[in-house]
Amino acid sequence: MRLAVVISLTTACMLIAVEAGNFYQDVDLTWGADRAKILDQGRLLTLSLDRSSGSGFQSKKEFLFSKIDIQLKLVPGNSAGTVTTFYLSSPGPAHDEIDFEFLGNVSGEPYTLHTNVFVDGEGNREQQFHLWFDPSKDFHTYSILWTPRRIIFTVDGVPVRDFKNLAKARVAFPTKRPMRLYSSLWNADDWATRGGLVKADWSKAPFVASFRNFSGEGCPPGPPRPAAQCGGTAAAWMNQALNAASRRRMSWVRRRYMIYDYCADRRRFPGGLPPECNRTAHHRGGAAR
Ligand SMILES: *[C@@H]1O[C@H](CO)[C@@H](O)[C@H](O)[C@H]1NC(C)=O
Ligand SMILES: *[C@@H]1O[C@H](CO)[C@@H](O)[C@H](O)[C@H]1NC(C)=O
Ligand SMILES: *[C@@H]1O[C@H](CO)[C@@H](O)[C@H](O)[C@H]1NC(C)=O
Repeated sequence: MRLAVVISLTTACMLIAVEAGNFYQDVDLTWGADRAKILDQGRLLTLSLDRSSGSGFQSKKEFLFSKIDIQLKLVPGNSAGTVTTFYLSSPGPAHDEIDFEFLGNVSGEPYTLHTNVFVDGEGNREQQFHLWFDPSKDFHTYSILWTPRRIIFTVDGVPVRDFKNLAKARVAFPTKRPMRLYSSLWNADDWATRGGLVKADWSKAPFVASFRNFSGEGCPPGPPRPAAQCGGTAAAWMNQALNAASRRRMSWVRRRYMIYDYCADRRRFPGGLPPECNRTAHHRGGAAR
């Protein structure tokens, strides 16, 4: 978002609606040669995957805390073995990362929405969901809100995960490394669908995922600064938390659609669950895979 000054929130929102989604301005196509394409005067981006390669793009800007929204239509039909990713990451091995990944499936079976948070190169905080709609039929909006206090993953405005900064309880949380947005479509048929049992059907290639209406803003890299000096609408979202209504919607999603929660996987953590696990209200207990 190229807003120099926020005159008022209303004006800012108007400008965002107009300005959001010029992929020429906002991203670089980084791999897969012409399998990644920007179309429709910058309003549409498509990634494709065939037997020899996938493809990807990344944001031109890096952010220290950010609000990212994108509309995405996933590979339709038999998408088994494909993975579409949309994540924030800093570079290097001891990196921070906030992940949305979409694991494809055979026709008629649900995609898996996979989320994770890495801090200092360490992840192991997976939570997975099925979606309450077919994500390959239409565009849906996926958002990451990363503030000093929390990371909220949202699908069509419905929060699915609220990862809090519990530094006082010695829970790691990304606050220091600027991150860039990355997105890709690639072949992961050695693990993605039913643990790798179902392979990609290359007779259906190329597989295509489409993106539109990207909006990414946040504080520029550098010393921490007050939200009001970050530009864009940071002042409005930097202290955002879930209100009671959003928390109710999140509980609904997690009750009905969550299929894996590391916080319920005691077999995986025989020495005790990670410390954040008994502090995150509203997570679903019990049903580990
Ligand atoms: C694919 O469909 C199966 C059967 O409905 C389901 O168990 C699985 O979670 C789905 N997703 C993936 C990525 O395998
Ligand atoms: C584009 O995204 C913004 C939020 O980033 C939203 O307000 C707007 O309605 C979206 N536009 C379309 C055409 O969906
Ligand atoms: C909850 O987490 C704290 C550490 O933050 C730990 O000391 C305590 O044993 C945990 N309780 C349960 C029931 O897991």
